[in-house]
Amino acid sequence: MSDLRLATIGPLLTADAPAKAAAALALPVDLPVDTGAIIPAPAGIPGRPARPQLVPHIRLKPPSMRTPAGIAALVHSIAHIELNAIDLALDICWRFPGMPEAFYRDWLRIAQEEATHFTLLRNHLLTLGFDYGDFDAHNALWDMAERTQYDLLARIALVPRTLEARGLDASPAVRAKLVGAGDHAAGAILDVILRDEIGHVAAGNRWYRFLCEQRGLDPITTYAELAERHQAPRLRAPFNLEARRAAGFDEAELQALLGPAQDTGLSARPR
Ligand SMILES: [Fe+2]
Ligand SMILES: [Fe+2]
Repeated sequence: MSDLRLATIGPLLTADAPAKAAAALALPVDLPVDTGAIIPAPAGIPGRPARPQLVPHIRLKPPSMRTPAGIAALVHSIAHIELNAIDLALDICWRFPGMPEAFYRDWLRIAQEEATHFTLLRNHLLTLGFDYGDFDAHNALWDMAERTQYDLLARIALVPRTLEARGLDASPAVRAKLVGAGDHAAGAILDVILRDEIGHVAAGNRWYRFLCEQRGLDPITTYAELAERHQAPRLRAPFNLEARRAAGFDEAELQALLGPAQDTGLSARPR
């Protein structure tokens, strides 16, 4: 395979989850990039294993942290998000032509970090006596990928800048739950993930602004319109403002997130 964007289709089509992660990690980062190629949509994306069974989001109950199976179910739900994240990052590479080469290299790096996250969590699940596929999961992340496949701006607004950014907000509470239940190894994995995810959301912010500027759009009002049009999940406090700031959300964006009545308390802090 001699083109980075075409090469992302192989792991995207791979059904077996650990094999998908391995295939993503095996992609050579120095492949040349044909930024202008229009690649026809391959049939069967994303490749997914027969298990886990995908069920509506509301049918998934928060697991109890009082049993080993409950702890494993929480680790499994994060592993499932990471598996989706591999596909989401790979999908951005092949689907959307016409961006600078650095854009595709960013998303290949992100796909490989997601593959590392999945692998760390899956290996941890094995030590807990479970495997990926042992619990039900939902399809909300790939649903959003499908709803935004018509336009890169919508994809970046709603996937990295909304769903992945929501992961930054959720991280402290999920980490506290796992560590509180005695799973310090999972806590250490979540530290790695949070560090990398700040970089993913930062890439989302960088390229979102690039596209807004290119199209002469206001980033804040455009985001509000896209979130409404695609029925993006309503983002609720508590927000991880520190991580969001590290990921490049500016004061006006944080203020829009918090609503006009609240003070971010950030204006006096260094940027
Ligand atoms: Fe991740
Ligand atoms: Fe990510």
